[in-house]
Amino acid sequence: MKMSMSVNLFFALILYTTTTAVYGEYYSSSVPKVEKKEKMTKLHFYYFDTHSGKNPTAMVVAHPNITDKTKPAGQFGTVYAIDNALRVGLEPTSELIGNARGLYVSSSLDDKVTLVMYVDYGFTTGKFNGSSIIIFSRNPVAEPTPELAVVGGRGRFRMARGFANIKRHFLDAKTGDGIIEYNVTLFHH
Ligand SMILES: *[C@@H]1O[C@H](CO)[C@@H](O)[C@H](O)[C@H]1NC(C)=O
Ligand SMILES: *[C@@H]1O[C@H](CO)[C@@H](O)[C@H](O)[C@H]1NC(C)=O
Ligand SMILES: *[C@@H]1O[C@H](CO)[C@@H](O)[C@H](O)[C@H]1NC(C)=O
Repeated sequence: MKMSMSVNLFFALILYTTTTAVYGEYYSSSVPKVEKKEKMTKLHFYYFDTHSGKNPTAMVVAHPNITDKTKPAGQFGTVYAIDNALRVGLEPTSELIGNARGLYVSSSLDDKVTLVMYVDYGFTTGKFNGSSIIIFSRNPVAEPTPELAVVGGRGRFRMARGFANIKRHFLDAKTGDGIIEYNVTLFHH
């Protein structure tokens, strides 16, 4: 009994001393994660998806070669690049707090428009200046209150996971301009 315990200790020590990255390998050995207390943070902001005017922040960068003119704009396969403003309020003059940068693609073959978003929401003021959250999610825009998945984050939001409840407050069907409210719930370190 005593013998086997000291043998276990011996192997535990070997394991412990070999966990730092070994030169000549591309990985370290795997060890149990040290549990850190998670924090919860909620964010509230408005996302300005602006396609029209002199300074559009959302642009079509690719679309399928479909000659059917009866199909509406934003049809399947259309890819948009964005650098959309994030503001504290619904008014276009309210304080700018960050930007949403990335891509979204119109991805449903049925008539319920769905965008899949690949977007980094970066903050440029306050406590979270320099930090961002990453959304990679389908956005069923036809639903009244879509839920998006937050899959990660940077800076103070490192290792974030969570979700965003969103609601459209304004849409210009002709130009595609929209203002969307975000309530984000995050768990992070
Ligand atoms: C787009 O589709 C039309 C009709 O099918 C075809 O004539 C044309 O060559 C296509 N253009 C490209 C760039 O593939
Ligand atoms: C945000 O961080 C950047 C880079 O560190 C800095 O230049 C800028 O002044 C900061 N902005 C505010 C409002 O704190
Ligand atoms: C966000 O939360 C506020 C406060 O609870 C609520 O009034 C608002 O309707 C919510 N909006 C969304 C899009 O969930």
